[in-house]
Amino acid sequence: LSIRQRPLSNVIPIRPELDRKVTHNSEMARILAQHETGEVLDLILDKAIASTNAEGGSIYFIQELRQDAFSGALPRLHRVLRFYRSVNLLLNSRNLHSEFIEIDGRSIAGYVAMTGETVRINDCYKLPKNSPFSFDDTFDLREGYKTKSILTVPIKSSQNKVIGVVQLVNKRRKVRKGTKKIDISRFSKQDTSLVEALASQTSIALENAKLSADIAKLFESFVQASVTAIEARDPSTSGHSDRVAILTVDLAKTIDSISIGPYKNIRFTPQQIQEIRYASLLHDFGKIGVREPVLLKAKKLFPHELETIMLRLETAQAKNEAGAWRSLVENLLSDQPARHSHVGHDHSNCQHNLIKTQNEINQFNKNLDLIRMKINEANESQVMDEDFDIQGLMKFIQDLSANVGQLVLTENEKKLLSIPRGTLSPEERREIESHVSFTFQFLSQIAWTDALANVPGIAHAHHEKLDGSGYPQKLQGDSIPIQSRMMAISDIYDALTAMDRPYKKAVSSERAIDILYKEGNDGKLDTELLKIFVEAQVFQKPTKNIRRIG
Ligand SMILES: [Fe+2]
Ligand SMILES: [Fe+2]
Repeated sequence: LSIRQRPLSNVIPIRPELDRKVTHNSEMARILAQHETGEVLDLILDKAIASTNAEGGSIYFIQELRQDAFSGALPRLHRVLRFYRSVNLLLNSRNLHSEFIEIDGRSIAGYVAMTGETVRINDCYKLPKNSPFSFDDTFDLREGYKTKSILTVPIKSSQNKVIGVVQLVNKRRKVRKGTKKIDISRFSKQDTSLVEALASQTSIALENAKLSADIAKLFESFVQASVTAIEARDPSTSGHSDRVAILTVDLAKTIDSISIGPYKNIRFTPQQIQEIRYASLLHDFGKIGVREPVLLKAKKLFPHELETIMLRLETAQAKNEAGAWRSLVENLLSDQPARHSHVGHDHSNCQHNLIKTQNEINQFNKNLDLIRMKINEANESQVMDEDFDIQGLMKFIQDLSANVGQLVLTENEKKLLSIPRGTLSPEERREIESHVSFTFQFLSQIAWTDALANVPGIAHAHHEKLDGSGYPQKLQGDSIPIQSRMMAISDIYDALTAMDRPYKKAVSSERAIDILYKEGNDGKLDTELLKIFVEAQVFQKPTKNIRRIG
């Protein structure tokens, strides 16, 4: 017979204890899987109440309060029991106890925390005279409740230190089988061992939760310290990382909540949101590997290069002036024999030549001023967008420079001044672009937890474009993670709208969105994501509480 055909009567019934054990183990596993201290405490209290049939219960954990000693002395730590949560089937309130309990014999929970011993009381109003602790009836009087049996168990750490207390009250028992009438009985030894077992699991779960919280805190502080390092390098981009993180996380949360359009099925877990946040905060970390003069380059020429050109122009001016006077003198000298016979005419001719030379010098100097002005104009970022005739300027300089025999611009300077957009030469642009690879290398060396494993990959793709024209991997379309596609939108938006940087003026929100749409229509940015970014007004979020450095 196959198992399925076996008659039911032959099946060995599962013993109730076994069943309870199975449930108990699976709930234990659930408790141990919790990463939040609060969730562990909640679960443990509910489980302790349910498994002992208690009417109510409370849970406390030990907290070290900083307490000022005498003035000037170092603050000392004072250990107290802090109330976390209370549940009672009869009282519909969750805030039933005072916030702090002293760790001493004045209360049962305080005594258990002090001694680390379990206390089981059958009737708290009939404590023996020599009891080391007393029962505080304030709660009963206030709530009109009658506490009778109590089971209080310490929660101990792996080092056997008390870290909390769980207290159950009034074990409920049916008066008779088949009746609904309940009376309050005493907690059994079995209840005690059950709650003690729960408490020992709690301590493991709490230690795990604390470890998780410590790891999260460690990552958070590390990320914040890294952001400080990036922004200290370039104060003009201060707040950029924070704002990109706010925008990208907000966009992700919006996408997570929508149920129409091509991204209606995209959902992000809280861990994935945290991953996006960290990737955004650190996306430009690699900029710390870019040389400072390049990173902060405000104009096409470095100041010393511009100064050299201005000095050459001064030399040209001096050379031209000296040359003009020299040729005037030479002309005068060559005309001298005729001077004696036509004195009047010579004098006026001489005056005429003098004025002519002066005018020529003035004209030359005017041209030089024009060149100075035009070079300064060409030196600015993105002048080419405003119809700047760089070729005309180069020809003008070339002619002037040939006439006077003075070099004004080297080939490299000509190339730099002819940069059509921004201020960077192709080599410098490559150097700046290398920040993405630096970011990736740096982030790849960090032992991220599994939940944050994609931080390096997301940050690595923040300059990729859908049409493959981005860098450094030249990824296309869907091969760019959606998180990076979202970040690309936030990054460009913030770079455009941020307060003036040395090398560019800030643009209005409307203009920035137009530019983003243009990029989208050119096949570079994800227009669907952009639509959500604009329609949900995500771009308006990061205006407050932005940290500023420098
Ligand atoms: Fe970047
Ligand atoms: Fe950026």
